[in-house]
Amino acid sequence: MNTIICGLQWGDEGKGKIVDYLTESADLVARGQGGNNAGHTVLANGKKYILHLVPSGILWGNKTCVIGNGVVMDPVGLCKEITTLEEQGITITPELLLISDRAHVVLPYHRELDAAREAALGKNKIGTTKRGIGPTYADKANRIGLRLADFHDEETARELIDIRLQEANETLTRYGLPTFTTDEVLDEVRPAIARLLPHVTNVIPTLHKAWKEKKTILFEGAQGSLLDIDFGTYPFLTSSNTTAGGACTGSGLPPTAIERVIGVCKAYTTRVGSGPMPTENDDISAYFHARGMEFGATTGRARRCGWLDTVLLRMAVMVNGVTDLAVTIVDGLDERESLKICVAYDIDGERHEFPPATRSGWDKATPIYEELPGWQSDTTAARSWDDLPENAKTYLNRLSELVGAPVSFIGNGPEREQTIIV
Ligand code: GDP
Ligand code: IMO
Ligand code: MG
Repeated sequence: MNTIICGLQWGDEGKGKIVDYLTESADLVARGQGGNNAGHTVLANGKKYILHLVPSGILWGNKTCVIGNGVVMDPVGLCKEITTLEEQGITITPELLLISDRAHVVLPYHRELDAAREAALGKNKIGTTKRGIGPTYADKANRIGLRLADFHDEETARELIDIRLQEANETLTRYGLPTFTTDEVLDEVRPAIARLLPHVTNVIPTLHKAWKEKKTILFEGAQGSLLDIDFGTYPFLTSSNTTAGGACTGSGLPPTAIERVIGVCKAYTTRVGSGPMPTENDDISAYFHARGMEFGATTGRARRCGWLDTVLLRMAVMVNGVTDLAVTIVDGLDERESLKICVAYDIDGERHEFPPATRSGWDKATPIYEELPGWQSDTTAARSWDDLPENAKTYLNRLSELVGAPVSFIGNGPEREQTIIV
């Protein structure tokens, strides 16, 4: 079954682990959006891998992996990632990793512009990963970006960078930052581009052939639904469509090819970066951080943690067309005596079961909670629904009821085998 796997919260839901788990029965794993702002952790073969741009399917050694046109690709970052994976014993050949010739390229000035804009925003900063993601997508929308295909011939790339730098350098000067010459940009990326070019191809026929041959294609979403440029907590979000539709526009495989959408959510809520988070709770944050959990896989920042928020999930389930939920890190709640679930927001004395669109609405949103008893027992050895404590089942059933989708997968530990199929 062709499946999209997407995050339903603010990212870091454990998508990488679920993709890795499902890859065993898949033929092809593709990314359709985001860039190396993503950090997907997979524990497999007794090792820990962190993937940023390479689809997690690569770890299986015999699955075709595709980086689609909707991804913004940092060539230097990708080469570093490939080297790290190779050092960990993973094989990455041009047959195993295909990169769309239409993917936009993150260039050194994009990273500088990202950092400069964040610094200028001061206390209103977005808290980006400073990987140049926003400026690269902005160039794409402004039609002044460079795609990988433009690097097949360096003279074309040179001309396009020349034009782009006129404005980028003006902006950098305004921020009091050093400017770039075209040669500096090209010198920095040339070795990485040369290394990657054998992987660069038109991936659309490959995806369509796999579809026609009834092979199984998995789409690995990056970020989460509340970071989606349209449906997220604007402006505190990323610059791509992280929801299910992004997999199609970001790959060239149409919606009619998709048969299943797995929405991944944690059994609680986390967020890294700025912006509203109504259920944020200092006690829960301290609880996870004291256990060495909930530190960002890309930037190492401590994630903000809080209770499960089903207002967010309700919208995410709708927008993504979620057919199945994967609820992860259920084991993270093992020790808690009682658990809160946010079922609605109070905004100015009115009950809202759907997230607001206004900034002031988000600022005023106060969670309305239901409280359920915890299970206070170790779930990490459970291998089936029946192995779970009754209170854990009640919690998961209530989550499913509140958000309107069935729980089909449960994560009860970071290892591959700590995944329960319901
Ligand atoms: P992603 O970006 O959605 O792939 O998620 P991250 O890798 O950024 O963060 C998820 C973290 O939770 C990683 O450290 C995973 O190893 C870990 N993880 C995933 N699923 C589970 C689970 O069911 N239980 C526990 N304890 N950890 C998990
Ligand atoms: P994965 O795929 C969590 C957040 C950043 C910031 C905002 C914008 O691992 O779930 P950007 O660099 O994209 O312009 O930053 O989005 N963010 C993520 N948060 N997980 C991610 O990816 C994220 N990618 C971006 O922290 O708030
Ligand atoms: Mg992550």
